[in-house]
Amino acid sequence: MSQRALGPFNVSAIGLGCMNLSHGYGAPTSAEQAERVLLAALDAGVTHFDTAALYGFGANETLVGRVLARHRDRFTLASKCGMTGVDVAGDGKLVRVIDGRPATLRATCEAALKRLQTEVIDLYYLHRWDKQVPIEESVGALGDLVRAGKIRAVGLSEVSAATLRRAHAEYPIAALQTEYSLWTRNPEIAVAQACRELGVAFVAFSPVARGFLADAVHDVGSLHEKDIRRAMPRFAPEHHARNLQLLPAYRKIAANAGCTPAQLSLAWLLHQGDNILPIPGTTSIDHLRENMAAADVRLPPELLAQLDALINQRTVSGDRYNAQSSREVDTEVFDTAPTEK
Ligand SMILES: NC(=O)c1ccc[n+]([C@@H]2O[C@H](COP(=O)([O-])OP(=O)(O)OC[C@H]3O[C@@H](n4cnc5c(N)ncnc54)[C@H](OP(=O)(O)O)[C@@H]3O)[C@@H](O)[C@H]2O)c1
Repeated sequence: MSQRALGPFNVSAIGLGCMNLSHGYGAPTSAEQAERVLLAALDAGVTHFDTAALYGFGANETLVGRVLARHRDRFTLASKCGMTGVDVAGDGKLVRVIDGRPATLRATCEAALKRLQTEVIDLYYLHRWDKQVPIEESVGALGDLVRAGKIRAVGLSEVSAATLRRAHAEYPIAALQTEYSLWTRNPEIAVAQACRELGVAFVAFSPVARGFLADAVHDVGSLHEKDIRRAMPRFAPEHHARNLQLLPAYRKIAANAGCTPAQLSLAWLLHQGDNILPIPGTTSIDHLRENMAAADVRLPPELLAQLDALINQRTVSGDRYNAQSSREVDTEVFDTAPTEK
C-alpha cells in the first residue's frame, strides 16, 4: 500500500481504526474474530493501528496489546487519553469521563502501556479537550511524556483550528484526528487549512460515515440495541430516510469509478490532500481488504466534483452528534445548519 507521513512516522495511507472490535457498532465481536481482523490487517500491509483508553474502557487496548505486541516493530501504534471509563459512583459501573489534568493523563498513559504490552506509544492523542483545563496544560503534560520516553509524538482529537494553534505553540502537534468524510465537512471550515499550514497530519475518523457511505446501513431499526448510531441524529428515522435518497446516485458514481461505495468514500478522502490518513474500522476481513484496496483508486476531477455536489453539509440531513456529544467537541460549525432537504 502507498505510504503517508503521520508526524515522524511513515505509515500505510489507510490505517485500521480498532474501536469497533471492542464496542460501537453491531453485536459484540468474538475475541477470535477480533484477533483474525488485526492479524489480517498486518498481513495486508496496514502499519497504522488506532485505539484509545476509552474503547471498551480499556478492553480495546488490551486486545491490541495481546494480539499485536509480538509484532510491535512492524507498525505505528496510536492511542488516546483524556477520556476514559471512571467508577464515579463507586458502584463498579464505569462511565465516560473527560479529564485532561496532567496527573490523570500520566496515570492513563501508564495503564495504557501495560495494557498495550509496550514500552512506548508512538502517537498519543488527547481524545477530547477538557475545557476545564487550559489546552497548554494538557499538551504540556503530553510533551513531558515524550521527554520521559513513554510516548513518541503528540496528537489532538476534535479540536478547533484556534485550539490546535494554541496547543502547537506549547508543544509540536504531530497529528489531528477528527471526523471527516463526504458527509462530515466541518474540518473544511478551518482545521484542514491549519493542519496544512502547521505541517500536522490529518487523521480522518469515521471515514465511511459509520457504515452509511459503505452502503451498509439501510435499516436503523435492526441495529443492535447498544449500537451507538441509534443515538446519532443522522441515523434517526426521519433524517436517515432522507439521507438514503442520496445513495442511488452515489452508487452510480462508485460504479463509474470502478470501485465499491466504501472505497469511493475512502478514495475521496485520500484525494483531499497528502496529509489525510483515513482509519476505517471493521469487524470483517472482507471489508478490511476492500477498504485497503481503496488506496489504489484514482478519481478524476469531474467525478470528485460530482461527489462534492451530491453529498455535503447542505444535502445531508441531521447533525452528526447529539447535544451531549456536540458539547464535548471543540469544532467549528457551519453557519448554515445542516439542512433538511
Ligand atoms: N477520535 C475520536 O473521537 C473517534 C471517534 C470515532 C472513531 N474513531 C476512530 O476511527 C475509527 C473508524 O471510525 P468508525 O468505526 O467510527 O467509522 P467507520 O470506519 O466510518 O465505519 C465503521 C462501520 O462501517 C462498516 N464498514 C466498514 N467498512 C465497510 C465495508 N467495506 N463494507 C461495508 N461496511 C463497512 C463497519 O461494519 P463491519 O464491521 O461490518 O465492516 C462499521 O459498522 C474507529 O475505529 C476509531 O479508531 C475516533
